[in-house]
Amino acid sequence: KSRERNVSALFHDQLPRPVLALLEDAGRLGDELGVPVYAVGGFVRDLLLKSPTLDLDLVVEGDGQAFARAFAARHQGRVREHSKFKTAVVVLPHFTINANQPPREQKVDVATARLEYYEYPAALPTVELSSIKMDLYRRDFTINALAVELNPASFGRLVDFFGSQRDIKDRVIRVLHSLSFVEDPTRMLRAVRFSQRYDFRIGKQTLRLIKNALQLNLLDRLSGHRIFNELKLILNEEEFLQDLEMMQDLGILKAIHPKLEMTPHRKALLEELDKILTWYGLLYQSPTPRRWLLCLLAMAATWKEEELLALTVRLGLSKKEERELVTLRRSVHKAMDLLKRWCAGDKSLSELYGIMHQTPLEGALLLMAKFDDDCIKKHLSLYLTTLRGIQLQMSGEHLMDMGLPPGPIYTRILDSIRAAKLDGRASTLAAELALAEILVRQYWDAQQQPGS
Ligand code: CTP
Repeated sequence: KSRERNVSALFHDQLPRPVLALLEDAGRLGDELGVPVYAVGGFVRDLLLKSPTLDLDLVVEGDGQAFARAFAARHQGRVREHSKFKTAVVVLPHFTINANQPPREQKVDVATARLEYYEYPAALPTVELSSIKMDLYRRDFTINALAVELNPASFGRLVDFFGSQRDIKDRVIRVLHSLSFVEDPTRMLRAVRFSQRYDFRIGKQTLRLIKNALQLNLLDRLSGHRIFNELKLILNEEEFLQDLEMMQDLGILKAIHPKLEMTPHRKALLEELDKILTWYGLLYQSPTPRRWLLCLLAMAATWKEEELLALTVRLGLSKKEERELVTLRRSVHKAMDLLKRWCAGDKSLSELYGIMHQTPLEGALLLMAKFDDDCIKKHLSLYLTTLRGIQLQMSGEHLMDMGLPPGPIYTRILDSIRAAKLDGRASTLAAELALAEILVRQYWDAQQQPGS
């Protein structure tokens, strides 16, 4: 029996008004269509943990797709339906959370809870479970198996059949039944992710079930693509390093691929990378570096290319992802050699720019993590924060005014002027133009040489 508690005060305290209004309206629509509607899953979990998310997940005890269509129509949204699973996503393209921010896209996932008959294995009587209870029972962990009713008469009523509130209070991740990891082995990775994110422990029985699942090699049954998706989610967490360590301790990493073990050397590199990502994240909100690229490359730092390719097959990377990974790896290797040589030379900034501006952002960050040399680290940071953004004050139009005919010479001259600027030899517009005049004259001189 579910313990009664109403969380509408939490809704009012924690949710932006427009989100609250949206949920209230979902409840009203439920009444109009004669169906109970609930907010469920991570949304409710994060509300109870007082760090609300705006990922709205609804479950309708009735026709979820019809509900989604009507809901989209009331809020000028679109709806994408997935008939196979009787789910739908409502997309509200211009949703305003508060007056200080521009409107953004808001998604609302809608699922259908069907009334099902649950057959106990040992010829016990078949019991009819309410459909929301069944829906929640099929979920991964107790902390994700809460629902909040939205229909007006009981708006905010918390539905907790499985001790979810107690587990949130006790800070523990527990599965709802012993076949949970058999049903869906990705849940092992999810257990780690939630455990680190919320600083919850994994319950004793749940830990035992993870170990059993690993012994049965259940991860082998999963498509690479599903594992890779979960890995990407893990790598996007702030605590990704602790996640990886926990996966190492549990034996999950080596179950994914024997070569993925965390050696001390890899761990040190990832720790350095973590610091650099934090540094970079504080300076720039976008573009966000693709962590999966960085972390896979850091893990594979000492592998041969064939070994890396074998991993990309196991993880079901798309051709495009595989290409990005291999290209980045090559550009990092190339830049590494060039940087070592650069360091032994006169360290001109233009040369540094020349080495780095072909390397994607992820490559620069990985190089910063790889080099112990303080001088290179400092210069790579200078490159990322300053050099790569340096713009000339003059442009191609100035060259056109000087009568230069269109062609690749434009890029060559502008590159030379940028190099001069980086090395402190053309810091004003006048200096840039003066240099341009010289280079244009040289161009004409060369044109007049016999044989040119
Ligand atoms: N779920 C599940 N088993 C999975 C994935 C998801 O039971 N393998 C259920 C959980 O109840 C979860 C809900 O589906 O709460 C939504 O899944 P998802 O959006 O992936 O997770 P969230 O819990 O919202 O977590 P996050 O904060 O990482 O988005």
